[in-house]
Order: sequence, then structure tokens, then C-alpha cells
Amino acid sequence: MKTLAIETSCDETSVAIVEAKGGLTNPSFETLSNAVLSQIKIHAHWGGVVPMMAKREHQKNLIPILRKSLVKAELFKNSKSGAQNPKQIPNDKLKIINKILEREPKLLEQFLKFIPTIQTPKIDAIAVTVGPGLEPALWVGVNFAKALAVFWKKPIVAVNHMEGHITAVLLKNGKNLKSKIRSTKQIQNSKFKIPIIQFPAIALLVSGGHTELALIKKWGDYKIIGRTRDDAAGECFDKTARMLELPYPGGPQIAKHAENFKKYPLTFRMGGWTRREMEKEAFNIKLPRPMIHSNDFDFSFSGLKTAVLYMLRDMKERHININDFTPMICHEIQQAIIDVLLAKTIKAAKEFGAKSIILGGGVAANKELREQMKKTVARELAKTTVFHLPPAKLTTDNAAMIAAAGYLRASKKNFTKPENLIVQGNLGL
Ligand code: KG4
Ligand code: ZN
Repeated sequence: MKTLAIETSCDETSVAIVEAKGGLTNPSFETLSNAVLSQIKIHAHWGGVVPMMAKREHQKNLIPILRKSLVKAELFKNSKSGAQNPKQIPNDKLKIINKILEREPKLLEQFLKFIPTIQTPKIDAIAVTVGPGLEPALWVGVNFAKALAVFWKKPIVAVNHMEGHITAVLLKNGKNLKSKIRSTKQIQNSKFKIPIIQFPAIALLVSGGHTELALIKKWGDYKIIGRTRDDAAGECFDKTARMLELPYPGGPQIAKHAENFKKYPLTFRMGGWTRREMEKEAFNIKLPRPMIHSNDFDFSFSGLKTAVLYMLRDMKERHININDFTPMICHEIQQAIIDVLLAKTIKAAKEFGAKSIILGGGVAANKELREQMKKTVARELAKTTVFHLPPAKLTTDNAAMIAAAGYLRASKKNFTKPENLIVQGNLGL
């Protein structure tokens, strides 16, 4: 089955085409294309994602990204002179498309210029993110999916973005498995090995808006056993980075400075301080690990954020140049977040006898988190528990993961009629 997926829940516009087989019991995927356009540069200026700007950008970007994705998946030939011979759209169909995209005039204009000029691609379903996320942004993708489904007469699958972050783990790195690997032996030996997830599994989902622990008994059966009571882990990275005057998004910035700190030789001077002096005399900065020992699987990161705020205020009052300490502070913020995430995940895995641990969401791009989690699972849990990581590139928002989750839903015949499709900003798993 070939699924075309659309993702517009936040600040990435993405369209992917993924081929899948195996159903719910043994799903496997081949990503034919996964075009992603990030709006980070536009939002960075404002220190975070501006929903109405995201909506505007998605409108502008969806048709070019769809085109790119179709070309890469070899479902449409790009001709230099542009597509030819627009089909005459019957009046009744034109009326429906106009109505569906009435709130996205820029997208409507491009839709009518491009879609009628190409052949209906050989896909079996359209999957689209309906939540959670920013509602104005989600609506653009959802209305686009509706218009395509009506125009091409294809079924729609409504996808939960967080389920997408879980199923990203089923996707392989690299564009085309078949073209890279020729024998079964190669598949077994290769880094492109198809992951087989054993249940029960515990998924740690960490993104800009979510920090959740989910118990998975089988594909499609998810139960949230813990979540953040205030800020998400990604939000904590972003907000503390902002306090340090680092650009948005803060996660990768904090990670970069933290890595530099690790590389400092103890005697190398930076801003007048050696690392040894920083650690020993000045501020052996120690931030709290909120709720690390609490008797549940919940998280809380706002206390950590406040602790950073007070620490910086104190440093300023003492006329200390904060820039000198940025790498050290970043290292400690990152480690505090990682310590809590690891402790709760291991606790959940032990309690529920997890055979698999899955890491997903934008924060899963964090190299230290990935590496420390791998080591901790190997050290703390039985050999039968396997740690599964999505390819690093597929941890942040993309449509390939939405196609994977969409395929699982389609396997249960879980389709939604275009007229019933709505977005839910706070949709739970
Ligand atoms: O899943 P995602 O792309 O979007 C949401 O659904 O929220 O996650 C974005 C979040 C941001 O908070 C960003 O700072 C964080 O993921 N992030 C990272 C890293 N890369 C992205 N956090 C820590 N380290 C990273 N390398
Ligand atoms: Zn996400």
C-alpha cells in the first residue's frame, strides 16, 4: 500500500510517500520520498513559532513540497516547461474545492494551477496530521488533504502526530532499501535492518509540546502512563536557551554548547576561566532534577527553568559575565533533563516488563540523550529489553512518520470521510 502523508502541525511543511506492507502484526516500510521544508529561520526572529505565520508559510509551501515529493517518488515527471494540458475541472468539483480551501486562498490558487495538470498519482490513501499541534497550522494540512482526496478520489486517514513520533522508529534510514541492499544476509547485517518491535513497549515521547511515557501493548494500543505536569522537555530546552540569549530552537543550541564544554581541556582558558576553575571554585553549577524520585511516571520541568532564571539573576548581580559560563550551564541543563527522562523511563520499563523501549520526538535528536539512553538501557535492564531509536533525521517533524502511523490506522480500516475531518490542537494518544 502506498500512502501520501501531509504534516503541518507546527513549523515544518512536509509531504512524504511511503510504501508499506505487513499490516499491524508485521509492519515494514519503504520511504519513497520525504520532503521537509523548515520555517525555523522565519520563526527564530520571534523566539518561537508564531501560529498565523506558520499557517501562511504552509499555504505557500504545500504545493511545491508535494511536487518535490511526487517527483522523488517517481510518481510525477518534472518537466521544465511545467505540467501540461490542465484538465477541465467539472463545475461541481470546482465548487467543492473552492469551499474546502476558502480559508487558504494562496493554497487554493496554487492547487488549481497545479493539481489538474498532473495525472492522479498511484497512491492508495492520504494520511494527514489532525493533532496535537497548532490549530491554524493543522487546518492548512487538513484542508489540503481534503481537497486532494476529493480531487483524486482517495480515502483519508486521520493521524495523531504523537503516534507518528512513535512509528518513526519503524522507518529506515536512507531513501530506498531495495536499491541499497540486495540479499537477506545484507539486510540482517546492515544498519538498514528492519526493526522488529516486541511488546509490551515503553515509548518516551519528548518534543516541544509533549513529554509523555506511553505503554504500548500492540500497534494502535497506547496508554499514557506519565506526562509532564507543566513544561515539556523541548520547551525547557527552548526557554532556558532564550534566557541565555541563544537563538530558537534552543535544543540544538544547548546541545552544541554542552558538547563544547565536554571538549574543554581542564586547563584551557575560556573567558578568563579554565574548566577546572569553573567547576571547582566559581560555580559548580548544580541544577535540580525535578520529580526524579517521585512515585509516579510524571515529569515537571518548570522548576528547572525557574532555577536557571534565578541562577542567571544571581550571576548578573555578582557582575559575572554569563557568556563565559554558557557551555557549562548548557551542559548542566541538558544533563538535568536527561537524568530525569532516563530515570522515569527505566522505572516504567521495569514496572511494565518492557521488551522494547522506543525514543521519539524532536528532543530525541539530542545525541547525548540517545547515547546515554542506549548505555543506561543496556546497564539497567535485562538483555531482553531492546532500545529502538528512529534515524536521527526522522526525530523532528516529518511526514514519513505520519505515513507510517497512517498505514497502521488504514490496516484497521480506520478511514475518515473528508466532511468529518477536523483538527484537535490537544488531541491525546
Ligand atoms: O517534535 P518536534 O520537531 O516538534 C514538536 O512536535 O514540538 O520537536 C521540536 C523540539 C524543540 O523544542 C527543539 O528544541 C527540540 O525538539 N530539539 C532538541 C534537539 N533538536 C530539536 N532538543 C534537544 N537537543 C536537540 N538536538
Ligand atoms: Zn513533533
